[in-house]
Amino acid sequence: MAKESKPGDLMEKLVGLCKRRGFIFQSSEIYGGINGFWDYGPLGVELKKNVKDEWWNTIVRQRDDVVGLDCSIIMNPKVWEASGHVVNFNDPLVDCKGCKARFRADKVYMVIAMAGEEVVHQAGVEADGDEQAKAEAIAKANSKTRRRLEEKADRLTWSVVRVDHAVEGGPAGICPMCGGHLTDARKFNMMFKTFVGAMEDSTSVAYLRPETAQGIFANYRNVLDTARIKPPFGIAQIGKSFRNEINPRNFTFRSREFEQMEIEFFCHPSEADKWYEYWRDTRYQWYINLGLKSSKLHLRSHEKEELAHYARACADVEYDFPFGTAELEGIANRTDFDLTQHQKFSGKDMAYFDDESKERYIPYVIEPSGGCDRATLAFLCEAYTEDEAPDENGAMQTRTVLRFHPRLAPIKVAIFPLVKKDGMPESADKVYRECKKAGLTAFYDEKGAVGRRYRRQDEAGTPYCVTIDGQTATDGSVTIRDRDSLKQERIAASSVVETVQRKLRE
Ligand code: GAP
Repeated sequence: MAKESKPGDLMEKLVGLCKRRGFIFQSSEIYGGINGFWDYGPLGVELKKNVKDEWWNTIVRQRDDVVGLDCSIIMNPKVWEASGHVVNFNDPLVDCKGCKARFRADKVYMVIAMAGEEVVHQAGVEADGDEQAKAEAIAKANSKTRRRLEEKADRLTWSVVRVDHAVEGGPAGICPMCGGHLTDARKFNMMFKTFVGAMEDSTSVAYLRPETAQGIFANYRNVLDTARIKPPFGIAQIGKSFRNEINPRNFTFRSREFEQMEIEFFCHPSEADKWYEYWRDTRYQWYINLGLKSSKLHLRSHEKEELAHYARACADVEYDFPFGTAELEGIANRTDFDLTQHQKFSGKDMAYFDDESKERYIPYVIEPSGGCDRATLAFLCEAYTEDEAPDENGAMQTRTVLRFHPRLAPIKVAIFPLVKKDGMPESADKVYRECKKAGLTAFYDEKGAVGRRYRRQDEAGTPYCVTIDGQTATDGSVTIRDRDSLKQERIAASSVVETVQRKLRE
């Protein structure tokens, strides 16, 4: 039976496990870390690589209408002028005049209590995520104060105003940290700037890309002219992006350096609606196929007012993280906006000429854009389970297990000799070598009681454990244990590789 953890506890336990077992570390931890940057340890890098491989296989290798690309991170700065990032990639910011903390204005709320015309209480609350998270944060921040005030005055009216709405001509915003006054909202460009070459002046300014998408648009002509492909077709890219986020938070969820998995799918404008629906549903299903529960995964279509000015439709794939419901991926119909902009700024023709219909047109673009680190975090959250399992003596023990989809699991198979004698280590080593040679991530462990070794693998999410025991020497068989059902079966030592490979394909 799986045991339930409270959302806050669950996140704390998961972060602890990620550090303890080498999934995710704080970047430059030995120097106190750096906010918004993370490192993937030996298990984490395998997990994230599996997420990327699953994406690449289903998007590029198993299809014949999508090709891959790998662009440079630093590009000609004109790209970011054409894309609108130099002017528009801004967050509204407020600073606390007292403690100097900085917040995104659209994430700070003012909670105001009035007794008639008189303001009797004002507090600032920082809340990210959906409406429910916001309401809970506000309720928590105010429950004590509310009780105290309501004892004094019984006709209070409470209101909640987003700070960037409140500061326009209204009372000053209140800092959620120290209660000091906030400045008015100011715009802050989120692109990281650097200089290319020896000179550090305005002519050598360049940016670390804030999305991989623009590298695809900039190469659209090159790919069209070289890859023997025509609309409808897509270009896919996985790579690092950088954003100077004001408030990196929720573990890796909002980082300053992260990886994206993006597709730009080019099609005739008349087919854009059809392809939009196709990609929205296909991308949603991808997460389900890899183990996210449909009860926790939502497709949320954007309201008209929420859409970027160039987008005709957009939907987010959202997941119920322990810290709230939040976006994993966005699927947008970006019309011909990007190609038209690049045509205008570069002077290069971006139109496609269809030989058959003799029509020239700038394709519309459907963009499924997901975050690798966010997907990896969602798979970790979904996988984290505490349940009860019998130990070697049959007594029930709590175990922590990461129930990854076997194809995502960092280690596919662990190999144990039951004891360190009677030829068992040698036989186990042989199976281990065969697994490694076949490209399976395998782990050899001969230390301690076998029950403890199972527990360690459960915590790492290893789906299969193979034990070489006394019977192996007589009939060449070993046991293979399933992480989730805990069932063990005997199979031939010589068939371990084939058995694991078959299970991974299922
Ligand atoms: N080309 C479109 C684009 O970049 P976006 O919604 O800004 O759209 C796409 O980003 C995805 O990239 C998001 O759904 C998220 O998964 C990921 N992402 C964006 N900012 C991120 C951040 N600061 N940290 C981690 N992942 C991020």
